[in-house]
Order: sequence, then structure tokens, then C-alpha cells
Amino acid sequence: MRLKDKACVVTGGASGIGEAITALFAKEGGKVAVVDVDAANGERVVNAVKAAGGEAVLIRADIAEEAEARRAVEEAVRAFGRVDVLVNNAGVSAVGDVAACAPEDWDRVMRVNVRGVYLMSHFAVPVMRQQGFGTIINMSSTIAVIGLQARAAYAASKGAVLALTRAMAADHSHENIRVAAILPGTVYTPFVEGYLKRHYAEDMAGAIENLKRRQLNHELMTPEDVAYAALYLASDEARFALGTALVIDGGVSAAKVF
Ligand SMILES: NC(=O)c1ccc[n+]([C@@H]2O[C@H](COP(=O)([O-])OP(=O)(O)OC[C@H]3O[C@@H](n4cnc5c(N)ncnc54)[C@H](O)[C@@H]3O)[C@@H](O)[C@H]2O)c1
Repeated sequence: MRLKDKACVVTGGASGIGEAITALFAKEGGKVAVVDVDAANGERVVNAVKAAGGEAVLIRADIAEEAEARRAVEEAVRAFGRVDVLVNNAGVSAVGDVAACAPEDWDRVMRVNVRGVYLMSHFAVPVMRQQGFGTIINMSSTIAVIGLQARAAYAASKGAVLALTRAMAADHSHENIRVAAILPGTVYTPFVEGYLKRHYAEDMAGAIENLKRRQLNHELMTPEDVAYAALYLASDEARFALGTALVIDGGVSAAKVF
């Protein structure tokens, strides 16, 4: 019960990494508000938490819309009375180098991944400030620290999330608002599965093997592997994790085996 009675908000909690974080936080005693545009999957995740004896609510909102992000934070406060932990996890991707990436894809990725993190934090920080306590965990990516081909917009957005995390840590640590980032490598989620289906439909098994080979342990990372990192950062045990960039990537950014 490492999050006993903590009021948590998880954006993008209806799928993949956010779903695993929601389930683990609830199992550890947290009350979780799932903020997502996908109401059907959001319901599924919330119902699973309740069936397991946990506490969760769904807030259907687009985090990149100012009015909706404001409402999401207000509804979370109405549901649980406070916001102790905000996990800015919702994100989208686009494929292509700068020449191939269409301006509308660039804008879509930056809008959700950067503006969404800014807006949710913009509305949550005053609540945390008033409480005199809060933790914000931003989902960046290893792509913020190593170049990967054909992900120009996505890389730029996750670099921005990492820089914003450090700026927020500088601004808010003295208010007892702790801000940190997680930098996952490739995690097998609907996000990645969809990408592989679109680009490697003829050889899914081969594409998955390639993914495994990139990891030093030759295994596929699961959403739960990232959820445990989020659990650590959300818990009081992480009180010195200020502006931390926690890399969980199977060693991809740390070492190269030739
Ligand atoms: N899967 C990976 O390999 C990987 C690696 C590094 C970082 N990440 C990051 O982790 C996060 C979660 O990724 P995932 O793989 O679990 O993705 P996913 O697609 O499985 O889940 C993302 C969720 O975010 C929601 N969402 C999207 N736009 C939204 C918006 N505007 N408002 C509210 N909700 C919105 C979606 O509906 C979905 O439920 C993302 O920020 C992603 O960039 C993923």
C-alpha cells in the first residue's frame, strides 16, 4: 500500500502504460482518476480496478483543450478532494523525418504531447500548491536522449517534455511539488502494436524479434515494467527524485553490443 489514500490522476489511463499505471496505483491503495479521450476503454479500465476492490473514476477529456484540461483537474478534485499525484502519460506519435512529417502531424503530436502536459500541469500545480504537496510524473521517452530514425515530431515532443520536467522541478520543488520524468524505451502496447501492423504487417513476428534484439536482455518490455517506475516516483520513497529522468529502456541508451 505504497500509495494509500493518495489521489492520483493518470492521463491516457485507458490503454497501454497508463492502464498498467492505473491498475498498479489502485492496487497500492491510490484513488485513480483516469483522464482519457477513449471513454470505452476508460470504462473498461475503471471497471477492472473496481472489480479488484480498488477506487477509480473516468474523466473523459482531451488534455490538449484548455477547457477540458481545466475540467479534468476540477473533476478529479471533486471526486477525491485533492490531487496528490499527476501522471502526464497521454501521448501520440507520428512517423517520418522532418521532410516527410506533414505540418498537421507535427502540430497534432506537439499539441497532445507538449501542450497537454503543460495544460494539465498548469491546472494541477495551483491545487498542489494549496495542499502544500504534490508529485508530477511526465512521460518522456528514451528518444529524448538518443536519436532514432523517422520520428522527428515525436522526438521533439519528448525532448520538450524532458526539458519542461527539469524546468518544473526548478520552479516547484521548494513548494513541496516533486516533478520527475520517465524515459521508457520501446514498450509493447497498442501504440507500438498499431505502428508495427501499419508498417510491418507482412512480418509481425520478425518485427517483434527485431524489437527484442534491440534490448540488452533480448526481451520485450511490458507496460508493467514502466508502471513500477511510476510507482516508485509516486511514492514518498522518491522524495529526493527531483527533476529525475528515470530511464527504463532495457539498456538501449546505456550500451551497445556489437
Ligand atoms: N509504447 C512505447 O514504446 C512508449 C515508449 C516511450 C514512451 N511512451 C509514451 O508513453 C505514453 C503512453 O504510451 P502507450 O504506448 O501506453 O500509448 P497508448 O496509445 O496505448 O495509450 C495512450 C492513451 O492516451 C490517450 N490519449 C491520446 N490523446 C489524448 C488526449 N488528447 N487526451 C486524453 N487522452 C489521450 C489514448 O486514448 C490512449 O488511451 C505516451 O506518452 C508515449 O509517448 C511510449
